[in-house]
Amino acid sequence: MFNFQNLLIRRRSIRKFSEELLSPNEIRIIIEAALLSPTSKNRHSWEFIAVEEKENLAKLSACKPGSALFIADAVLAVVVLGNPLVSDAWVEDASIAAINMQLQAEELGIGSCWVQVRNRNYSDRVSAGEYINELLEIPMPLEVLCVIAFGKKEKERAPADLDNLRWEKVHIGTYPPAHDLI
Ligand SMILES: Cc1cc2nc3c(=O)[nH]c(=O)nc-3n(C[C@H](O)[C@H](O)[C@H](O)COP(=O)(O)O)c2cc1C
Repeated sequence: MFNFQNLLIRRRSIRKFSEELLSPNEIRIIIEAALLSPTSKNRHSWEFIAVEEKENLAKLSACKPGSALFIADAVLAVVVLGNPLVSDAWVEDASIAAINMQLQAEELGIGSCWVQVRNRNYSDRVSAGEYINELLEIPMPLEVLCVIAFGKKEKERAPADLDNLRWEKVHIGTYPPAHDLI
């Protein structure tokens, strides 16, 4: 058990997983973290699809070139959906649920990584979201924000370094003049 700052320091993106399955209780606790998340106007604009079948994990890993491949080696992927007709803050609602699942997983000793889907492409003509909608039979107007891949860590990663934080991103009182933004 870590205190909250230790949890934040220890959470790193994990892309290499062992084959060990998560228990039903671990999966339930991760999903509860999503459902406990705050939402704009308390509208609960999110929905989630938990995918465990190897075949669909492999298909999800093809949702965009390259940076989603490790989903195939995960034992669980949670597809995080938002409904823009329920809330204009669906991206924020879904993002908070996604990171809460990642932090809860870390607390359970389970690794995870966010795979961005919104604004990403499967091919020249098909977006990553359209590909997943078709694969998992997701109806309009739901949109996929991301997929969070979960599994037991193949190995631990070095924790973040509190001495290396980007304090230059923090300003006191007003924004500094002539500040280089890029
Ligand atoms: C909005 C968002 C989108 C991300 N998309 C991907 C992705 O598509 N593929 C991937 O491998 N990692 C993705 N990541 C993980 C980041 O690369 C990772 O969080 C970042 O490099 C910092 O590393 P850390 O999580 O180990 O601290 C994403 C993270 C965020 C927050």
